[in-house]
Amino acid sequence: MQVTVIGTGYVGLVTAIGLADAKHDVVCVDLNKERMEQLAQGIAPITEEGIEEALQKNQSRLTFTTEYPLSDLYLVAVGTPERADGSCDLSAVQAVVKLIHSIQPDAAVVLKSTIPPGTTESLQEMYPSLRFAMVPEFLREGTAIRDMRNPHRVIIGTHDQGLAESLADLFKTNAPIVHVDPTTAELTKYAANSFLAVKISFINEIARLADIVGADVEDVAHGIGLDPRIGPAFLKAGAGYGGSCFPKDIAALTTLAQRQGEHLHVIEAADRTNEAQLEYVLQKIDPRPGLRIALLGLSFKPGTDDLRDAPALRLAERLTKMGVIVTGYDPAAKTLLDQKKTIEEAVAGAEVAVIMTEWDDIKHVTPQQLTANMKTARLIDGRNCWAFVDEPGDVQYEGIGRPGKTF
Ligand code: NAD
Ligand code: UGA
Repeated sequence: MQVTVIGTGYVGLVTAIGLADAKHDVVCVDLNKERMEQLAQGIAPITEEGIEEALQKNQSRLTFTTEYPLSDLYLVAVGTPERADGSCDLSAVQAVVKLIHSIQPDAAVVLKSTIPPGTTESLQEMYPSLRFAMVPEFLREGTAIRDMRNPHRVIIGTHDQGLAESLADLFKTNAPIVHVDPTTAELTKYAANSFLAVKISFINEIARLADIVGADVEDVAHGIGLDPRIGPAFLKAGAGYGGSCFPKDIAALTTLAQRQGEHLHVIEAADRTNEAQLEYVLQKIDPRPGLRIALLGLSFKPGTDDLRDAPALRLAERLTKMGVIVTGYDPAAKTLLDQKKTIEEAVAGAEVAVIMTEWDDIKHVTPQQLTANMKTARLIDGRNCWAFVDEPGDVQYEGIGRPGKTF
């Protein structure tokens, strides 16, 4: 089958690679000409494990262009960012669907972008000749290729039986395929992200209490996670969640509900707790003008250079406003901060180092590397990940919710 993917970012590119793996010819379309020229040369625009190899392997099946071709199937994976009022900006999705309709009025259109419940139905009403399905994406950045190859489920939301069958075939997998209506598919995506965010904020609250009562949140998380009704995932306490999706999806869902006169209390609380968590890290730092701080890890999570809504950048902004002198280090992400090439350079002369992203080299920074370079070897572990927590040497260590390990 010849498939066109519109929007060649994390979701579009990774989906295109998956389809090419399954021997489909895929045309990738994007507004960003430079991105498409680079991709045509096999250069990936994003940092993701295995992506360059996957691009090379599928070179003959993937075409990159800024022009819309005629196609059997259009997959839409353009961005749906947050508007200033918290709602979801659907302008790119709407523009793309309008263009598809002008080229091929009876095309099958599969929406992969995260779009608020009701969006597909209203697009279907606006363009009755197009055949719509909503198939949400669940990949994580940093493990995108792996997640795409091993999904936990495929949700297919459409009223079109023929299209549902073609899509089940197209996204063939050993994982369960769940057939639903488009609005249910849309809400399933938001519910999944919101639930994961709630889990993180839940454990972050427990971490704060652990600091007060003198317990270790890592052991608490392990203890509760062994219950299969709770599960171990997404119970890592730290500086809070960031990224291109949790914050904006929660804003979109809570805004949508509020406009219908409904409050999603639990989800709104998760968001407030997340904001407060960064303040909590700030409190631990005890900032003052002139203090020298090194932020270790800047991307919103390891394995990616994505800086969208990165907690490290939000923290850097707060610190800089307070007159703190901030340097940064990240093995992949590039920022406008005073960023150094090595951990040693970043911590040189610093009074506090704060781990904000659990990259491997940051997890394994040795007590010696810190004490030899810092003015005072004080480490705040905003991801509870430091490998030397049990043998910190002369490093004054403080995690989040691990008061037993404090200096
Ligand atoms: P992205 O910003 O990486 O990529 C979006 C791409 O769309 C960009 O390359 C941009 O140039 C292109 N684009 C924008 N408007 C366009 C237009 N009118 N025509 C053609 N191309 C256009 O975004 P992303 O992270 O891949 O996210 C895409 C969607 O998938 C969002 O709705 C997001 O919420 C959702 N999602 C993202 C992830 C993730 O891990 N990043 C996971 C699941 C779902
Ligand atoms: C998340 C979801 O996990 C994906 O399933 C979803 O497809 C995607 O959003 C999306 O819709 O875009 P992603 O944002 O790439 O994926 O990364 P996560 O691994 O979920 O991490 C998000 C944030 O939560 C990171 O800042 C991470 O540090 C933080 N986190 C994660 C914690 O603080 N604790 C945890 O236990 C897990």
